Amino acid sequence: MTVKDIEVRPLTSALGAELLGVDLSKPLSNKEFDSIHRAFLDHQVIFFRDQQLTPEQHLAFARKFGELDIHPFAAGLEGHPEILPIVKEADDHTSANFGGSWHSDVTFYEKPALGSILYALDVPKTGGDTLWANMYLAYETLSDGLKQTLDGLKAVHNASRAYGLNSRTTQRHQEGADISMQVRASEEAEEEVTHPVIRTHPETGRKLLFVNANFTRRFVGWSEKESEPLLSFLWEHCTQPAFTCRFRWQKGSIAFWDNRCTQHLALNDYHGQRREAHRVTVCGDKPY
Ligand code: SIN
Repeated sequence: MTVKDIEVRPLTSALGAELLGVDLSKPLSNKEFDSIHRAFLDHQVIFFRDQQLTPEQHLAFARKFGELDIHPFAAGLEGHPEILPIVKEADDHTSANFGGSWHSDVTFYEKPALGSILYALDVPKTGGDTLWANMYLAYETLSDGLKQTLDGLKAVHNASRAYGLNSRTTQRHQEGADISMQVRASEEAEEEVTHPVIRTHPETGRKLLFVNANFTRRFVGWSEKESEPLLSFLWEHCTQPAFTCRFRWQKGSIAFWDNRCTQHLALNDYHGQRREAHRVTVCGDKPY
């Protein structure tokens, strides 16, 4: 399949496509930008191979899609705070990696991210793949009864599981993860926001399921204990293999995912090997 003069190769029938014939280090023509944007909306996560970007070129590509975020808990690159280096050193033997549970980025914000652009600089020989899941499919495959129930619900999100004082981050500090990344645990992570459980994508107009295991705490008006069985069902439902794709990284690979309609998971199966990828996150708008 060809969109304009960029070749678009779908990765699975669920989501994901590799784009060939693009050099992201160069300024994009309007036609190239439109083709990339169209592929991003159609496939939810798009991939590019063999790219060579300076930090400025990475940021310039991301800025074509919106304003950029600075991560509130993880330190950015020296001189470029909008670039988040996601690193696991070979001698990091901690139990969890950054992004190692299914989530959509920063849904603990009032306005969660539009998308994230991850550029691989150092990859393990084997392992370290990333998986994405399609949240349109997750919504569309629910029964009409459950769709109706969820349509009226809102959910509370915060960052406490990941960055609270009793979080994975605190555990990782105790295990010595500071050798890889500077991530802080803070009581700010307890701050709560609410989002509709079924969200409408602002660009495609399609409905999708918008809860994730990392940041969603409970349904508004329900206790955590009452929410847990239905949320657990939804998390299992939305990450089933038929809704996913899996990307094998190479040095110079880029993934650009739509945080509004996908979730992702960074596998932690490469102990003893180094992995470094730089993420730039594009700000989004308030879900409705
Ligand atoms: C993340 O952004 O959640 C991490 C993705 C990855 O390292 O593959």
